[in-house]
Amino acid sequence: MASPPSTTSPKQWETRPDSVRGSELASDFTSSLNVDRRMYREDIAASIAHARMLGAQGIISTEDSTAIIKGLTQIRSEIEGGTFQWQPELEDIHMNVESGLFDLIGDVAGKLHTGRSRNDQVATDFRLYVMRRAKQSVAGCRRLQRALLDQAAEHRTTLLPGYTHLQRAQPIVFGHAMMAYFEMFGRDADSFNAANDSADVCPLGSGALAGTTYPIDRESVAQELGYSRISSNSMDAVSDRDFVLDYLFAAAKTMTHLSRLSEDIVVWSSQEFGFVQLSDAYSTGSSMMPQKRNPDYAELIRGRSGRVTGALMSMLMTLKGLPMTYNRDLQEDKQQLMDAADTVRSALEAATGMVDETQVDAKRASEAASDPALVATDIADRLVQEHGMPFREAYTRVKESIFGSSSDAIDDVPKVSALDSVQMRDIHGGTSPGQVSAAVTRGYGELDAARLRGEW
Ligand code: ARG
Repeated sequence: MASPPSTTSPKQWETRPDSVRGSELASDFTSSLNVDRRMYREDIAASIAHARMLGAQGIISTEDSTAIIKGLTQIRSEIEGGTFQWQPELEDIHMNVESGLFDLIGDVAGKLHTGRSRNDQVATDFRLYVMRRAKQSVAGCRRLQRALLDQAAEHRTTLLPGYTHLQRAQPIVFGHAMMAYFEMFGRDADSFNAANDSADVCPLGSGALAGTTYPIDRESVAQELGYSRISSNSMDAVSDRDFVLDYLFAAAKTMTHLSRLSEDIVVWSSQEFGFVQLSDAYSTGSSMMPQKRNPDYAELIRGRSGRVTGALMSMLMTLKGLPMTYNRDLQEDKQQLMDAADTVRSALEAATGMVDETQVDAKRASEAASDPALVATDIADRLVQEHGMPFREAYTRVKESIFGSSSDAIDDVPKVSALDSVQMRDIHGGTSPGQVSAAVTRGYGELDAARLRGEW
């Protein structure tokens, strides 16, 4: 009975004797099966499209093409039903599927690889896989955006101190802060859509590196697989992994935004701030200190952002010194991408739940926002508007009266509340409740449009 390759079996790694040498270690070292088996659907779909085209072009007979497609379809059900016999010594998903096909339909299976190389095959499969994950990431961003919108809608008038340098700066409404994150994750969705577009180029037909001698129909294969275009240069096509970089950059940027959101939640939920309370589901008690409610989810999201940025750096390093064209180094792309996509997915889900369930302590937040120092700018603005004072002079007068050093304190200080302060910022993009309401309405409209496009 075949044992699974130990590359991803921690137990086996831990217990394997240090003295393993020779072919066992070698196949273990070169195998990618435990990573690339996750793209079996794409591998089989690409092989089916290729086989159909070979038949249609008369490169193989229609009977052979039909037998191959039938066999591949059965392999897919066996994989999905958990009955497929994986052969770890066969290195990767492509060799496993091909060998499974031989077991099912015999020598005809050998015709599937006509006019194709594993180099254009793996690029074709992986691009499809990245497109699938990119679409999934877009949907994850959209769901988080909706959670942020719902909080923004509920808190369009809830006052909160806004910070720069983590020093209290000016009053804002809580909804405005939620909408700031709404914008970020909207741009992330755009970036994942762009990564999808970057992957959407079918390389099949590039062969090992120079093209193929068979009269294949590249367009029909691309179309069957859902690609919108085909690659233009076979050497570039088998070695291009820019679409992986594009996905990883989008993922790293999303994790950076998630990390910032998490940090705000950590700060806001601390006793010192106390502006929000995390639900029990998204916080954990301490094993020692009974009073604790730790923001573990937010911290783990923040912590995991490092992994995803690491994946981007790792891929850039893998690619930078490669000579043309395909080199085995490229096999490293899948582990980095899959781990990043899994991390982004779970982090987006966790953040969505956390945002959904966070309770805002409106009383405490608005008390903090009512710190008179926060309206200093507004008082200066009033002096400008009501007394025709130049702004710089008004600024100096207010600063002197705040720090008590004034020899000519302003006798008639305008009264400005935190609510007045936000209401006065009634400009597109500003924090007035009216503007935030308008932004929320636009936001729901954007999400509706994204839904119509089928993004989520
Ligand atoms: N497992 C390989 C990869 O992921 C498939 C392509 C192998 N091609 C080759 N010429 N060895 O890159």
